[in-house]
Amino acid sequence: MRVLVTGGEGQLARALTRAPPQKIELWAPNRAELDLCDTSKLASQLDDFNPALIINTAAWTNVDRAEQQPGKANQVNAAAVGSLATLCAERDIRIIHMSTDYVFPGTGNTPHKPNDPTQPVNQYGKSKREGEELLLASGADCLIIRTGWLYAPWGHNFLASMRKLMVEKQILEIVSDQTGTPTSVLDLAPVIWQLARGKDPGKDPGKDTEQIMHWTNTGTATWFEFAYAIRKALMAKDLLEYPPALEKISSMDYAAQHGDIAHRPHYSVLDATESYQRLGKTAADWHDALSRVVENMT
Ligand SMILES: NC(=O)c1ccc[n+]([C@@H]2O[C@H](COP(=O)([O-])OP(=O)(O)OC[C@H]3O[C@@H](n4cnc5c(N)ncnc54)[C@H](OP(=O)(O)O)[C@@H]3O)[C@@H](O)[C@H]2O)c1
Repeated sequence: MRVLVTGGEGQLARALTRAPPQKIELWAPNRAELDLCDTSKLASQLDDFNPALIINTAAWTNVDRAEQQPGKANQVNAAAVGSLATLCAERDIRIIHMSTDYVFPGTGNTPHKPNDPTQPVNQYGKSKREGEELLLASGADCLIIRTGWLYAPWGHNFLASMRKLMVEKQILEIVSDQTGTPTSVLDLAPVIWQLARGKDPGKDPGKDTEQIMHWTNTGTATWFEFAYAIRKALMAKDLLEYPPALEKISSMDYAAQHGDIAHRPHYSVLDATESYQRLGKTAADWHDALSRVVENMT
């Protein structure tokens, strides 16, 4: 089966390309090689490679910069997804599309189920939700996987930022009133491959009846708790010699100090129970997943 993974240099795409299952002919171009926003070229690239499946990991993921350049975020996360979906529908290409916990308002304190009402609170979340809607309306055979707080041993993410700052600073202030689930791409990638291969217990592998799934590691954390666990894991692996002090700060105070920060949901935990049932297994606790990611860091 030919599979195209978009955004080939992104943190999730790199995990997907590390260990594709057998009998997969994989193409994971970076943005210079395949630009989702270049629709006319994209059509011919799809015709040339002729994939049976596209895993769309490409996205504008800088949440703060999306506030300053909402048009650009929208172009990648919404308009380009709509165009890609139309091309897929016309060519009978299945598409697995990645989306986010930030489509929800995050004002409650219970995990969000896939069919809960969405109400994004920032431009990134709005653009991702619009992308979901365009994809669902396109008629393409699609599966949307929402996840949250992704990190990897590589790329740009909270773990990488913390590692750098923990070496540079003696005191770090970390937001302690936003709760989510840190999710390792090393754990997410095999789940996507399982769904790509149609090893979906009790379901027709060719067609997804439920078009939106939630998948994260298990457990919850604030950014402060995540940072605390990162500090411990880095020290355990001798990657941090002089640990900084960590102090809690509210989102409001953090925004006042840093400016130009996007508003973020206070509680963006996803309820992934249905996915765990559908896949036949639950996910690892985020602390265990973090240990494995740090093990893979150099
Ligand atoms: N990161 C998170 O915490 C998080 C949480 C929930 C959901 N998600 C979703 O999960 C997916 C994967 O996220 P990630 O963290 O792996 O993202 P990432 O590391 O930021 O990678 C995204 C990739 O998309 C590429 N890209 C941007 N615009 C493109 C375009 N027009 N055409 C082709 N490629 C383009 C980027 O290339 P350049 O670097 O060259 O621009 C980058 O390599 C995304 O859909 C994201 O919205 C992420």
